[in-house]
Amino acid sequence: MSQAVLISVLDMIKKMLQNDEPYDKILDFIDKSTRDVQLQALREQIIKCTACEIHNCNHTPFTGNIYSEIMFVGEGPGTEEEKQGVPFVGPAGQLFNKMLDALAQQVHPRWAREKVFISNVVKCWPKSDDPHRTVRQPTTKEIAACKAFLDKEIELIRPRVIICVGSVAASVLIHPNFKMTEEHGRFFGDDPKLIAIYHPSYILRRGEETDEGVELKIQCWNDLLAVNDFLEKNSTETQTHG
Ligand code: URA
Repeated sequence: MSQAVLISVLDMIKKMLQNDEPYDKILDFIDKSTRDVQLQALREQIIKCTACEIHNCNHTPFTGNIYSEIMFVGEGPGTEEEKQGVPFVGPAGQLFNKMLDALAQQVHPRWAREKVFISNVVKCWPKSDDPHRTVRQPTTKEIAACKAFLDKEIELIRPRVIICVGSVAASVLIHPNFKMTEEHGRFFGDDPKLIAIYHPSYILRRGEETDEGVELKIQCWNDLLAVNDFLEKNSTETQTHG
């Protein structure tokens, strides 16, 4: 933590105490500030990581609201994500963003991109050797090398729901033999709840406007509506979040 940040946090606590703010509010502020600092440190560790063979790239850490109840976990960065160092900003990201925009406008503002937390199983670009593809699935070794980062993110964010985007994330976080066609939209675990949706890259490969692509998008939409229903009943979020 920089000295300036430390001073402003301590100053804020002092003011809250002087104003006789409720004890819970002060504790909540300390808790959020601590998580904030730990996530900054984690981001720096991710950026410097050399733990596996694909580390020689522009690392792509998490993005979004660190106090969100909703955490999306994708597979790994592609070309555009690697360039910008931000998850889901390439072609798949654009489809992902369209879905979030529609949910935020039509269902609940909690779905706006800046209100959710977005990460990936691996933080480095698994570059493909295949001339027809720019990205490949991360290997078991690459996933294992990055897993501690993902675990720490989940511990610090404390989401109510983790949405696995695609079968790689689902097989890492839900169970190793995850079958998207049979198990998407199903809730697993307790706290956090886990659910998986089709990956937007998969939808793009099948043709976004084909009958199949449209059907896959409808399934994603329904799966996300199920998450929204869950949050309607279980959200503890207050207006101060995000
Ligand atoms: N696909 C992913 O799984 N993650 C990204 O960040 C981009 C594309």
